[in-house]
Amino acid sequence: MTDKLLITGGVSLGGEVRIAGAKNAALPILAGTLLADGKVTLSNVPHLHDVTTTLELLGRMGVTLTIGERMCIEVDAREIKRFSAPYELVKTMRASILMLGPLVGRFGRADISLPGGCAIGARPVNLHLEGLRAMGAEVSLENGYIRARAERLHGARLVLDMVTVTGTENLMMAAALADGETVIENAAREPEVTDLAEFLNGMGARIRGAGTDSIHVAGVERLAGTRYRVLPDRIETGTYLVAAAITGGRILCRDTRPDLLDAVLVKLREAGARIETGPDWIRLDMAGRRPRAVDVYTAPYPAFPTDMQAQLCALNSIAEGVGTVTETVFENRFMHVLEMQRMGADIRLEGNVAVCRGVERLTAAPVMATDLRASAGLVLAGLVAKGETLIDRIYHIDRGYDNIEEKLATLGARVRRISR
Ligand code: EPZ
Repeated sequence: MTDKLLITGGVSLGGEVRIAGAKNAALPILAGTLLADGKVTLSNVPHLHDVTTTLELLGRMGVTLTIGERMCIEVDAREIKRFSAPYELVKTMRASILMLGPLVGRFGRADISLPGGCAIGARPVNLHLEGLRAMGAEVSLENGYIRARAERLHGARLVLDMVTVTGTENLMMAAALADGETVIENAAREPEVTDLAEFLNGMGARIRGAGTDSIHVAGVERLAGTRYRVLPDRIETGTYLVAAAITGGRILCRDTRPDLLDAVLVKLREAGARIETGPDWIRLDMAGRRPRAVDVYTAPYPAFPTDMQAQLCALNSIAEGVGTVTETVFENRFMHVLEMQRMGADIRLEGNVAVCRGVERLTAAPVMATDLRASAGLVLAGLVAKGETLIDRIYHIDRGYDNIEEKLATLGARVRRISR
């Protein structure tokens, strides 16, 4: 039985939504708790399936977990018994690879199921493994598992072939307890990398340069417990801003950080949205206007995020004019386009460019979610399509959006979850 979302399009959204903690910060930070020989208390952790999977992984390793109200989580990794992440959990969540760095860094061993590819691409982890080898780990692939062993990692100068977010995070965590200094060149600059570094420094790590492409880690002997609040989710924020823009509505996003999504705000202003921001809020007003088409080019932060690409395809599909969406990070991240075409979108794929010619109105159709952010794009298309759109396989959505139908319903959307 798979849940589906039924959306009746045509409502202009209006209202206020509270943004949850960032999934892509919470996952590496939860993995990072393995480095502490003290208690860690985390707040603003989003209530998502991927977080639940990560907690299950930690629990199986013998970590003591206490989950308080509003997803305030206490993690005690002083004693752990198992150093592995089994296939049946890793296959549901590739980010399990983030257990690798902390386990090898603190315990000198890890057996992590090799994450398979997924809908958006092959997503190899070669850079993670090469970095650990450079720090002195023996890393081999056996029966679909990554087997890593090390007496104690030593510092190294790592130059990453490509910008990799979880690769940077894994190697930063491995370096925190290594013997000596590690430099990570061509590091990812995503805010979630910076959030992880601030969390680790709160435990006593000595990390400088997070947020730039050159990160310096001076290894220390041990890391203590700490308390930390996960930063807001910039992709959830962007998704709700587009939901208001695509329906000609208005929205106030609270508990967020406008400085985390400059590239997205630039594009929404280009599309005709009026946007005001404060320290922890963003107000967008489309005032009933039809958006203008925009050209988008995804690339690592601070450029336009690939995780917002499907949402902009949806916006362009009903915008005035022709907008191009170029995807440079993943090799197969246009599956949502095929589904939007079934809803009447006039989008032509030319290699890694989607050429979107806006139409007046999409028409509802039964569609299928293929990956987390593609699903978000289909929900946005459903909000403006004429009729009832039924989105199947929405477990993809539940991995990355906290209570999406409740939040959309408070904004006036006609959406409900059905299990058939
Ligand atoms: C992170 O994935 C995010 N996930 C993704 O969000 C996000 O789309 C992606 O970064 C890009 O911003 C988490 O943070 C948990 P990469 P990650 O390593 O780290 C290639 C979502 O929707 N590569 O930065 O796996 C890779 O194939 C998810 O929340 C290698 O070739 O992405 C890709 O083309 C989806 N070898 C490019 O680098 C490696 O060893 C960027 O991937 C590692 C990566």
